[in-house]
This record gives sequence, C-alpha cells and structure tokens, in this order.
Amino acid sequence: RQHHMKGLGHAILTGQTLVGDNPFAVLLADDLCVGAEPGNGVLKQMSQLYNQFRCSIVAIQEVPADQTHKYGVIAGENMKDGLYRITDMVEKPAPEDAPSNLAIIGRYILTPDIFDIIKETPPGKNGEVQITDALLTQAKKGCVLAYKFDGQRFDCGSVDGFVKATNYVYENMYDQG
Ligand code: G1P
Repeated sequence: RQHHMKGLGHAILTGQTLVGDNPFAVLLADDLCVGAEPGNGVLKQMSQLYNQFRCSIVAIQEVPADQTHKYGVIAGENMKDGLYRITDMVEKPAPEDAPSNLAIIGRYILTPDIFDIIKETPPGKNGEVQITDALLTQAKKGCVLAYKFDGQRFDCGSVDGFVKATNYVYENMYDQG
C-alpha cells in the first residue's frame, strides 16, 4: 500500500517485497483494456512478447496531439508491426514537446531490475517519481519495448470514458439473457 501520493514509480516500488526477483505486470485500474479477439487480452499479448524478448514492455496507442499532456509518450524504432524499441519517453508532454503521438496505456510488464532504477530516479513531472522516467533509464541501459496492442481501451478516469466502457461491456460482454 502506498501511504503518500508520491507517483506511480513510487507506488510500484512499494510492491517490491511482494514481487521479489520476478518479472511482473502493472495494471492501472482506470484504464479498461479489451482485446480484439476473445481469449487474447492485452496482457496475454504482452506476455507472449515478454517470453520472446525478456525485457520490460509498455502498452501504447495513438492519441491526438492535443491529448499528449495526459500520458507518458514514447519515441522508438519500429521493430515490426506495432512493436517499437523505445529511444525516448516523456511524461505528460505538451504537444510541441511530445516525441510522437504514441501514448502509454496502463498496462506494463516490468523486469525486477526496475526497482533499483526507481530508487535512483528523482521526482519528475508534478514532483512525483515517474515510472516513465525510470523506464527511460532502463531503455538506455538495455531494452524496453512498446507495443500497440490489438484491442481497445477506455479511460474510466473520465465520465465520458466510464460511460462508454459501461455501454461497451453491457453490449458486448454481458450475458443479457
Ligand atoms: C499514468 C502514467 C502515464 C500513463 C497513464 C496511462 O498517468 O504516469 O505515463 O500514460 O498512467 O493511463 P496517470 O493517468 O496516472 O496520471
């Protein structure tokens, strides 16, 4: 449990004693993600990539330029369809500072060396310890991937997104019989 609002990086660090020396997933509950195919959810897609590449992976999607200030935004080398090797990451940039329109969505697979990196990461945007900053350090030391997942995402942190998510689940996933 995170007792003080010191940022997502700090929140993840509080999980170290539970996670130990294992790769692990981070799910931000205000992002509802639904895979395009039943049985192939976003984390399953990312786990398959993890098994292949054995490095941290973040989920991304394209956003309009006027939305970059709400997200971590990446730049990367395109490895294959929808998969990027990260070269830069900026937390909540203004459109003119955004390195691309590829925004991080709240699904991460992280390797446990991220904990030591977080401990060395100074507070960034809004005075908080950002996982985005720690992941950029990890990307520079080795490899971090970004994956444009097959599916859709609802921002349940906004009223509009929450209503759309509710309607989507009711119409597509809820057994109305
Ligand atoms: C967090 C992350 C941000 C990411 C976003 C996804 O921001 O810091 O990099 O793009 O989640 O939802 P928050 O929405 O918690 O401010």
